Amino acid sequence: MPKGHGGEESWRKEGNGRRRFLRWIGGGLLGLIALFFGSMVKRKLYRLKSEQHPVRLPLDLPQGVTFHEDIIINRDGNSYRTMSARCNHLGCIVDRKEGEHLVCPCHGSRYSLDGRVLNGPATHDLVCLHHRINAKEKSLIIEPPA
Ligand code: FES
Repeated sequence: MPKGHGGEESWRKEGNGRRRFLRWIGGGLLGLIALFFGSMVKRKLYRLKSEQHPVRLPLDLPQGVTFHEDIIINRDGNSYRTMSARCNHLGCIVDRKEGEHLVCPCHGSRYSLDGRVLNGPATHDLVCLHHRINAKEKSLIIEPPA
C-alpha cells in the first residue's frame, strides 16, 4: 500500500463527515424556516369566527372576565371590554384566567385583564374588538377587526 494512501483515506472520511455535518445543519435550518413560514401561512388562512363576521352575545353576561370561543369579554357594570382571544405569540386561544391574569395555554404568555401583555413570549397586547350594544335586542354585537 502506498504511503500517502492512508492520509488520502482519512482526508476522504473527514470530508464525508464535514459534508454530513453541513447537510445536517442545512436540514435543520430548512426545517426551522419551514416551521416559521408554515405558522405564518396557517395564521393567515385560519381566521377565527370573530375575525370573519360580527358575533352576538346576550347583554346579561356575568360581571368580570368571560371566555366566548375566540373572544374575551371583561364586563364591569354596564361597561364591556371586548378582545380577541388570539394570543399574539403564535395564535393560540387564550382561554384561562389565573388570579388577575389571562394566560395562554401554549407557551404561557400572560396578559392583564384588559389585554395588556405582561409576560412573553407574546410581545403585543390582545387585539381590542369594537362592539356596540343593541338595547332593543339586549345584545352585545362584537365587530371583526378592520
Ligand atoms: S401562542 Fe400564546 S404564548 Fe405562544
